[in-house]
Amino acid sequence: MTDAILDDATALADYAAEWIAGRIAAAQGIFRFALTGGYTPRPTYERLAARKDIDWSKVEFYWGDERFVPHDNPSSNYRLAHDSLLKPLGIEAQKIHPWPVDGTPDAAARVYETMLKRHYGAERFDMRRPLFDLQLLGLGDDGHLCSLFPGQASLKETQRWTLAVPTGRPEIRLTLTFPAVESSKAIAFLVSGKAKAPAVAGARAGDTSLPAGLLKPQGEFFWLMDRDAAALL
Ligand code: 6PG
Repeated sequence: MTDAILDDATALADYAAEWIAGRIAAAQGIFRFALTGGYTPRPTYERLAARKDIDWSKVEFYWGDERFVPHDNPSSNYRLAHDSLLKPLGIEAQKIHPWPVDGTPDAAARVYETMLKRHYGAERFDMRRPLFDLQLLGLGDDGHLCSLFPGQASLKETQRWTLAVPTGRPEIRLTLTFPAVESSKAIAFLVSGKAKAPAVAGARAGDTSLPAGLLKPQGEFFWLMDRDAAALL
């Protein structure tokens, strides 16, 4: 586990953008990047959008989870990344893999799982060959990651790569499961603010009542935080 603790949210966004850009620049071939939603990542995405020096043509964009709302809905994780990162960079549509948000939530999750398996080239994960190059994760005050919420059966899913999450938030959610989240060369939490400090401390202490405390990274594992989020460490 590698930590970066920055003075404030602005410094965190500066650092996180530089760090992500460095990982993309150092990668050989395709770079499969699973984006997080929520409010925290926007400043980081905006800074990445200014990095015209990066070879973005090798990056394939995915999402760790999505709200089951139209892509132009203000709470859409797709819209967050589209507006702050993908459109400003002019990323071509075939490199962008949003969750479908039509039909039923369960069917949409299964469509995404089928797409991930096609891109991965297998029906089952091989720990020696991770699906993603970088899984960028936010952390909820309750210790959730993606849309894996405390106490839900989704936390125990070991076969499916994706699930629909009908309860726990105002919108129905779509989410990667732990096996898919963990199939990544690198996982990085991006966490800002005092409200997250208990969840940060609990997750890092292995508190299994928190979804983030259940995470078993297979590759490199990073915490990118500001001082407020790291206040209880
Ligand atoms: C989402 C995210 C979710 C988020 C955390 C933190 O769809 O909202 O994927 O897991 O990362 O809830 O959200 P904030 O960054 O808004 O605090």
